[in-house]
Amino acid sequence: MKKLTVNTPSNTYDILIERGILDNCDKFILPLLSGKRVLIVTDSNVCKLYLNRVKNALLKRGLLVATHIFTAGEQQKHIDTVEEIYNTLSENEFTRKDCIVALGGGVCGDISGFAAATYMRGIDFIQIPTTLLSQVDSSVGGKTGVDTKYGKNLVGAFYQPKLVLIDPDTLDTLTDHYFADGMGEVIKYGCIYSEELFEFLEKNDIKENIEEIILQCLKIKAEVVSKDEKESGLRMILNFGHTTGHAIEKLSAFSLSHGECVAKGMMLITLASEKLGLTEQGCVLKIARLCQKCGLDTDINFPLHDIADSAKNDKKGADKKLNIVLIDKIGSSFIHTIDKKDFARFLCS
Ligand code: GLY
Repeated sequence: MKKLTVNTPSNTYDILIERGILDNCDKFILPLLSGKRVLIVTDSNVCKLYLNRVKNALLKRGLLVATHIFTAGEQQKHIDTVEEIYNTLSENEFTRKDCIVALGGGVCGDISGFAAATYMRGIDFIQIPTTLLSQVDSSVGGKTGVDTKYGKNLVGAFYQPKLVLIDPDTLDTLTDHYFADGMGEVIKYGCIYSEELFEFLEKNDIKENIEEIILQCLKIKAEVVSKDEKESGLRMILNFGHTTGHAIEKLSAFSLSHGECVAKGMMLITLASEKLGLTEQGCVLKIARLCQKCGLDTDINFPLHDIADSAKNDKKGADKKLNIVLIDKIGSSFIHTIDKKDFARFLCS
């Protein structure tokens, strides 16, 4: 078993990575519980694959296990879905001592975490991520929340889990598309923080080494969020490729998935920064090659001006400045602040 510890001002917790850990998750969850009730939140796809394994492991310890299954899909990252979780918690008489287990991908973790942060002003929650994207990124660091009609993640809370359990075997049931989607975030970690990881991804078979790759990504994530839990500085680097990526996601009416948009976003922003001399020459080509190796499409199918407009509007509020994350070379990143009005010129340079 591989173990990492995340040490934030709000909470210190472990990330445990082991094949088959779903079947003995009780061993790690039980010591953390203050109450007897556990609500497993999962979606309509994941429930068919993994719910019984987690549920049975907890039931054999005499816990009162309730389940809440929501329809799979990004559209469910909505306050109404969270309200339905509150209702299930109330109907099953959950108190502040009880616990939510999020079993699934990023949407499941985000809405379950937000329900946990707000039900009775905060109950414990545990993440069991089952997609590559949630295993390497969203299950760690405590970003929880929902989308509103005005934008993604506009309502939420920083709320750290008590534990993150990762079973790399769950990746076997991911489609190639969703495996590649997660690789968008994996490549991001190499770009912003670790040339060694980037080169490892270039030279090695990804699926054969996925456990080691997850570990290396999470080492970076744990270090970054331990230093800057609430994104007042360093944590911003985790948003590399996201300003332009979110814009592409929105322009595609969410027909493109998050990780594939992050890949396109990384390419686009690095293309501009390379032209402006802010990034070492050749990085775009390296990122493009690695994305292609991982099955990620790097074509940009929207006009740059539309992407710039959409990105500018995504960052709402009175702030006239935009913090964009750039890399100076593979493995090293920095924050570049520009006026919002100059973003289109920056991107089209
Ligand atoms: N996914 C970026 C972050 O957790 O900050």
